Amino acid sequence: MSDISRFSFPTTILFGNGAVNEVPICLKELESEKPLIITDKALTGTAGYRRLIAAMKDAGISFAVFTDVHPNPLDTDVEAASNVYKTERCDGVIGLGGGSPLDTAKALAVLVSNGGALSDYDVQNGGGGNIKEELPPIIAIPTTAGTGSEVGKCAVITSSVQKRKYMICHSSLLPLRAILDPELTISLPAHLTAATGMDALTHCIESLTAPIFHPMCDAIALKGIEFVAGNLETAVKEPENLEARGKMLLAASMGAVAFQKDLGAAHSLSHALSAVYGFQHGLGNAICLPPVMEFNRDAAREQYALIPPYFGVNTIGMDTGEAADMAIQQVRELNTRIGIPSSLKTAGIVNDRFDEVESKAFSDPCHLTNARPCTEKDLRLLLQKAWEGE
Ligand SMILES: [Fe+2]
Repeated sequence: MSDISRFSFPTTILFGNGAVNEVPICLKELESEKPLIITDKALTGTAGYRRLIAAMKDAGISFAVFTDVHPNPLDTDVEAASNVYKTERCDGVIGLGGGSPLDTAKALAVLVSNGGALSDYDVQNGGGGNIKEELPPIIAIPTTAGTGSEVGKCAVITSSVQKRKYMICHSSLLPLRAILDPELTISLPAHLTAATGMDALTHCIESLTAPIFHPMCDAIALKGIEFVAGNLETAVKEPENLEARGKMLLAASMGAVAFQKDLGAAHSLSHALSAVYGFQHGLGNAICLPPVMEFNRDAAREQYALIPPYFGVNTIGMDTGEAADMAIQQVRELNTRIGIPSSLKTAGIVNDRFDEVESKAFSDPCHLTNARPCTEKDLRLLLQKAWEGE
């Protein structure tokens, strides 16, 4: 076994109000003359979409648009987008939106360049090794601050036949440009700001505690935790606060950079809840994170003990166990302040399909890097705790 670690942060990020106006320059740098813009229907009514289109037209750039992306994107969405890409003879892809359009854009780039069926690239079957051809350039423009897909090497796709989520992961899926424009996130409703922001926090906390040697990712995860702790509540309660919106966009990207290390059990549960109930990913993480942190408390207490000061809590005089407990309490209190339901039950989940959720959570790879190893029974108990709100 090699002792050599490999660290890589390759995506060029443009951050700042008005950054969307830089897209034409990025296209020129990437030698794309006709990109396909991938977004969803709701976004076509937003100022962010209009500003992107205006910037493209002002620069005289041809483009095509695909808007039929579902929340939790389906493999059939990617195939339909791929047909448009080929018919329109596109040579690059721009994803605009939350995780769904961004992941669709990344999966499309694999499909149009490498062919076959999308499931051929499922990471669980070693699909990354089937990506051999160079992908067209990908530009990612997030309008939510949570998934961090704009700097991630994976796309999460739902199989329309098997009704399960699977991941396509390869370094070539890393977008070549990420455009972080805080102005594009101010129209995001409070409940989505809260849920996506908690997704970012879950990325930071789960990656910080994943048992993999990556001190650079650990430092980035901690900075992301600082930004969420200091800005998520403000972003929820003052939607036009561009300072808080900008810090949350950065936190989301930092969370996704950090989870190059991998994630943990909250993500396995949330992926399963999405697949079975169509439950919103960030909300699933927000509700599952506190019980997962309780479960991990002894295994991850050194890392958890670093968290409370970012929430303004002085831990001098506490031992690491007490500071870890305080971190869990701070996460629960943040959930309450930003209006996250206290349990899956109060969020409307009926526990009639928990056998299915348990089985899908156990087959999801994220828990393999949980701070504390999880059995299938452990995941069921965590699911039950999240449902009851313990
Ligand atoms: Fe996530």
